[in-house]
Amino acid sequence: MKYQNILLDIEAKLALITINRPKKLNALNKLTIEELHHAFQQLANNNEVRAIVVTGSENKAFVAGADIAEFANFDQIQGEDLAKVGQDLLFNFIENLNKPVIAAINGFALGGGLELAMACHIRVASQNAKMGLPEVSLGLIPGYGGTQRLSQLVGRGKALEMITTAGMLTAQQAYEFRLINHVVSQEELLEFCEDLGLKISKNSSTAITAAIKAVNANYKDGVDGFTTEINQFGACFGTEDFIEGTTAFLEKRKPNF
Ligand code: COA
Repeated sequence: MKYQNILLDIEAKLALITINRPKKLNALNKLTIEELHHAFQQLANNNEVRAIVVTGSENKAFVAGADIAEFANFDQIQGEDLAKVGQDLLFNFIENLNKPVIAAINGFALGGGLELAMACHIRVASQNAKMGLPEVSLGLIPGYGGTQRLSQLVGRGKALEMITTAGMLTAQQAYEFRLINHVVSQEELLEFCEDLGLKISKNSSTAITAAIKAVNANYKDGVDGFTTEINQFGACFGTEDFIEGTTAFLEKRKPNF
C-alpha cells in the first residue's frame, strides 16, 4: 500500500510512523485511519521490529482530532459506525498490538489525537504539547475510546472535568495527572522515544507480548486479569526466549533475543 497521509520508516528494530497532514494539523480522516491500520498490521507481522514510535509531522500538532469536515454531515447511524470502525481499526488495534507503541506527542493532541495517544502503551510529550478532549464543544462526546481510557489513566473525577470543560492541559499538567509518562523538550522528543524503544528491543519480544496481554486483561470486561497472567506466565515457559533468558543468566552473559 502506498501511503498518502503517513510516513513509515523502519530502522533496525524500531519503526517510526509519522502522521503527515500538517495543513490539517494531522487530523484523522478515514484514509489516514486505514493507512495507520495497514502500517500497524504490517509492523505487527514484522519480527525484526520490536517497538513502534508514532508522532505527528512538523512542530504544531500530534493530531488535532478526528477530521471534523469529514463527519460534519453524518447522521446517527453513520456517527455510530465512525466510532466503531475507528475503534476496531486503530484504537483497540494499537492497544492490543503484540509490541509496544510509544506516542511521541509533539504538539496538539486533541480529541481523536489524545485518544490515539491514550491507545498507545507509553506516552511522551514535548513541553509545547497541549492535550484535551474538546468534543462536547462540538455537541459530541469522545468516540474513539476517550471516555474509557482517560478515566483509566487519570481517574473518573479528572476525566469528567477534562471532558465536560473541553479544556486543554499543558504537558506539565498532563504529567502531573499521570496522563503521560514523560515531558521532554521538542528537540529531544524523538530521540527520547527511540531510546525507550531500544531499551525495549533488548528484552524478549514474546515475553513483552505476553505482558501486554496480561496488563490489558485488567481493563477488559468479563476477563480475570490474574487468570490471564497465570496463563501468559505459563506460556512463556514454552518459548525459546525463556530458554535463552534463563540460560544467559546462569552463564553470566547477556541474552540474545
Ligand atoms: N478536523 C479537521 N480540520 C482540522 C482539525 C480537525 N480536527 N483541526 C484543525 N484542522 C484544520 C483547520 O480547519 C485548518 O484548516 P484550513 O487552513 O483549511 O482552514 C488547519 O487545520 C489549521 O487549523 P487552525 O484552526 O487554523 O489552527 P489554529 O492554530 O488557529 O488552532 C487548534 C489550532 C488545534 C486549536 C484548532 O485547529 C482546533 O480547535 N482544532 C479542532 C480540535 C478539535 O475539536 N478536535 C476534536 C475533533 S472531534
